[in-house]
Amino acid sequence: MNVCLKEIKSDNLKKTQQIGCKLGRNLRGGEVIILNGDLGSGKTTLMASIAKGAGSSDQVSSPSFLIKNQYNCARFIIHHFDFFRLNDPGLMKNELIEIINNGQDVIVIEWAQIIKDLINKDYLTIDFKIEGYDSRKLSLKCSPNLKYLINLI
Ligand SMILES: Nc1ncnc2c1ncn2[C@@H]1O[C@H](COP(=O)(O)OP(=O)(O)OP(=O)(O)O)[C@@H](O)[C@H]1O
Ligand SMILES: [Mg+2]
Repeated sequence: MNVCLKEIKSDNLKKTQQIGCKLGRNLRGGEVIILNGDLGSGKTTLMASIAKGAGSSDQVSSPSFLIKNQYNCARFIIHHFDFFRLNDPGLMKNELIEIINNGQDVIVIEWAQIIKDLINKDYLTIDFKIEGYDSRKLSLKCSPNLKYLINLI
């Protein structure tokens, strides 16, 4: 299978926020984005700027307090799931399936291992690597039909 790959270095918080904003602007609705990486590598930081870039002014809450949060944007809602430390998605499973099937809203998931099998469409994966106190490497991977998401970053 063909995949599109892009590697981006981020030397500081601001750069990660810029990447998120651009990604948020590229969203059309219906996309699924999976964020992988160590604790504190920048997943929620990126999520906050994706919402901002997509036009939401909703507050992004702290990671790992809530399993799910949502951000209202002009044309769609972004649903942010964080399954950190969960072995089972519980009721969130049905909600996730419903959102995937509605096809309009955007889904961003941290710690997605336990629900990966539920995702029946192509998604963008972003792997975060901590390379230093302020530096991160972001590896973006998607199938060609989602290339528009990462093209202009
Ligand atoms: N280049 C960078 N990009 C992103 N965050 C950075 C960068 N440099 C430093 N940071 C800091 O790293 C931390 C990233 O925290 P964040 O909550 O986004 O991580 P996370 O991957 O969501 O963690 P968790 O797995 O606990 O949810 C923040 O404190 C942020 O200020
Ligand atoms: Mg987080």
